[in-house]
Amino acid sequence: MNPITQPEHKPHSSPERLGIRAHVHELISSRRSPRAFSDRALTTDAIISLFEAARWSPSSINEQPWNFIVATKDDAKSYALLAESLSERNQRWATQAPLLVAGIAQTTYLKSGAPYRHAWYDLGQSVAYLTVQATALGLSVHPMGGFDAERIRHGFSIPPHFDVVILLAVGYADKPDMLPEDLRQREEAPRMRKPLESFVFTDAWGQTSRHVSQEGLSLNTQSTN
Ligand SMILES: Cc1cc2nc3c(=O)[nH]c(=O)nc-3n(C[C@H](O)[C@H](O)[C@H](O)COP(=O)(O)O)c2cc1C
Repeated sequence: MNPITQPEHKPHSSPERLGIRAHVHELISSRRSPRAFSDRALTTDAIISLFEAARWSPSSINEQPWNFIVATKDDAKSYALLAESLSERNQRWATQAPLLVAGIAQTTYLKSGAPYRHAWYDLGQSVAYLTVQATALGLSVHPMGGFDAERIRHGFSIPPHFDVVILLAVGYADKPDMLPEDLRQREEAPRMRKPLESFVFTDAWGQTSRHVSQEGLSLNTQSTN
């Protein structure tokens, strides 16, 4: 565990329980999007670390189209603006998180003004980097698409050619029993994923790659190459 921070409650997501067929790094297998957040504040070091990770993500011609609006509870005006833009369903739990972040993509290239077709991809990947770094710090990130983007655009005077793509609740995961009963049940429900065979193809759309078909399954969990 990283020396900077320790989680207060480590959600249980063992590879066996998740049906993971081969070795994946614990930073990936242990990550999840919790709704139960402790009110423990993040250090400035941890916040900087998250955005350093986002910063080192790859992007089309190194355009780096990601932008973030960050609000801790001490940034009362910004935190309220982000929180109020959330759907009611998300507000119920996300406003417990000590940090809210809006992820914003620049949708045209700066030099040419041409449409930036991969802007959302590049923002998403930078958020993935941020999320992995958060996991390494014992933090959790819960992404949310349920919010009013125009409200955020207006509230923060975001110029045209930038899309407000995602909101993130960030903090230390807490025990599910702190949640209202309906949310607690969702928090503890088994986590599901489509099997590899259903989305890894070769030769034709829908034709499972032999590399991931169950027949080709290697029982080795540690790759040797
Ligand atoms: C683009 C995007 C939008 C999402 N929107 C919401 C949301 O509005 N509310 C919510 O509770 N979870 C939201 N989620 C979280 C997903 O429901 C969650 O990632 C998914 O169920 C898988 O669970 P896991 O992240 O714990 O593995 C969103 C995730 C993504 C990537």
